Amino acid sequence: MILVLLGAPGVGKGTQAQLISKEFSIPQISTGDILRKEVKEESELGKKAKTFMDSGGLVPDDVIVDMMEKRIKESDCANGFILDGFPRTIAQADALDKMLEKNNLKLDSAILVDVAQDKIVERLTGRRVCEKCGAVYHIKNNPPKKEGICDLCGGKLIQRDDDKEEIVLNRLKIYEELTQPLIAYYSEKNKLKKVDGVGAIEDIFKRVKAVL
Ligand code: AP5
Repeated sequence: MILVLLGAPGVGKGTQAQLISKEFSIPQISTGDILRKEVKEESELGKKAKTFMDSGGLVPDDVIVDMMEKRIKESDCANGFILDGFPRTIAQADALDKMLEKNNLKLDSAILVDVAQDKIVERLTGRRVCEKCGAVYHIKNNPPKKEGICDLCGGKLIQRDDDKEEIVLNRLKIYEELTQPLIAYYSEKNKLKKVDGVGAIEDIFKRVKAVL
């Protein structure tokens, strides 16, 4: 199964992708997570990406496409994968189509997780992530059992630099301009499945499974 998860920053793409990954035993490929790892390691790619990420802007398409072409060829992708945060522009979606075609693969669905903008800011400013394993929490909606500590691996929970309110607002603006057109793109290809992203995480996951 090959899936794309679409939706504005903070709608819960990563949260749902982790659940889908566990249920269907396919890897979650999060471009944001890959880029943050590169930034932490101060690699050439990380240095290039950092300036864009810090302001909430998008990393250039050619950098992302190159990175994803390599990633989907890795052995854990043999039975499918979930793309979380890619594609994010029409140029990236076209590149993904070509990549899949070249490797004799087919996209099953693009799942749009839909949440009104006013709820998103609260979700992002309250988000905490494990610096060790990447698990995602929310201080009110999805707190860890012990404050500041990951339930899964005991790692420290931190706030992402781009989850500060002014940067969140810029990310939302960029989403509207560059990523929202993908809704029509996948709808025209009859791949779009829309899921209401408001409610308990488990209920949203039931909705996701129902459309798959
Ligand atoms: P990325 O990491 O992909 O960020 P994003 O798309 O903005 O998405 P988020 O990770 O912020 O949110 P999410 O939808 O996954 O929500 P989550 O599940 O965490 O990208 C970061 C940056 O990298 C970009 O700004 C860009 O610079 C660069 N980048 C990445 N991909 C790129 C690309 N393809 N091209 C160019 N640049 C790229 O949930 C959010 C919070 O809400 C959590 O705290 C969670 O616990 C909580 N929550 C989840 N579900 C619910 C619920 N049902 N009810 C209440 N709270 C909930």
